[in-house]
Amino acid sequence: MFYSKPVTEIMKMRFSCRTYTDKPIAEEDRERLSAFLSVSGRGPFGGAARFKLIAATDEDRKALKGLGTYGFIKGASGFIVGAVGPSSKNLEDFGYTMERAILFATDVGLGTCWLGGSFTRSSFAKKISATVEELVPAVASVGYILPKEQSGVTIRQIVGGHNRKPPENLFFRETFGIPLSSDEAGPYAVSLEMVRIAPSASNKQPWRIIKDRGSWNFYMQRTRGYGNSLSFRILNIADLQRVDMGIAMCHFELTVRELGLKGRWEIKEPKIEKPNALCEYTISWIGEV
Ligand SMILES: Cc1cc2nc3c(=O)[nH]c(=O)nc-3n(C[C@H](O)[C@H](O)[C@H](O)COP(=O)(O)O)c2cc1C
Repeated sequence: MFYSKPVTEIMKMRFSCRTYTDKPIAEEDRERLSAFLSVSGRGPFGGAARFKLIAATDEDRKALKGLGTYGFIKGASGFIVGAVGPSSKNLEDFGYTMERAILFATDVGLGTCWLGGSFTRSSFAKKISATVEELVPAVASVGYILPKEQSGVTIRQIVGGHNRKPPENLFFRETFGIPLSSDEAGPYAVSLEMVRIAPSASNKQPWRIIKDRGSWNFYMQRTRGYGNSLSFRILNIADLQRVDMGIAMCHFELTVRELGLKGRWEIKEPKIEKPNALCEYTISWIGEV
């Protein structure tokens, strides 16, 4: 693993930091993060995204407001900008590879916040020289965490992620509707918990996982109107719930690997009835015994 601490510890440390100290990122930290970004690799579906760390200018900070992002970002000294080429699961691969980078930044001691918006034709896209074929689905603000922000969040994490859906609404056994107990999840219970604390656009948590024997089947439960609403279409914002799925896959796989469990991703939709038309199959993790 490319991290200095257990990945589960890093996932628990991460939160959406929206207020930073004004301190520029130290050269050593900047170099470590840039080096990681330059070899970011491919996602599970085979798509490669490119990433770059840029220093934030006043124009960048101002531009954010007009790009469909929400939440007020204050004092960020840099941004991670990423671009991904066309392919059927490019947004999932983008989410997966960008979250790996976010966790690296967290490990380095930086605060981050995912920002989804209409970046593809923005000044951010120019900074990574995005081609006409490429999308820039999201960027992330980075910088040193203002201590006040961190203390508030530490309390939130201690009380057990009260701003997340309970596991019984997310993880099931054999079919939708039968919650998977922690005993039934066995060693994978930790991986599921790491999915549960993953970031998602507007905290909608669209991930659903059904365990069926050795397979962990990932589904996306779309939020009605979200991503397809008029404002999203007018602003040309990427389908961020697909990005969320890639993030969840990243948390699941990195945790599984850290636990020493073996397996692989496979696109093989099981014959499981989906609860509604807004639910879509994404991929399955096939555990090896
Ligand atoms: C794809 C994506 C897009 C996001 N876009 C924004 C955004 O535009 N503005 C913002 O303040 N937070 C944004 N977030 C952060 C989420 O609101 C945040 O992850 C969620 O509320 C859970 O909180 P946590 O990250 O502190 O655990 C985004 C997250 C993701 C994964």
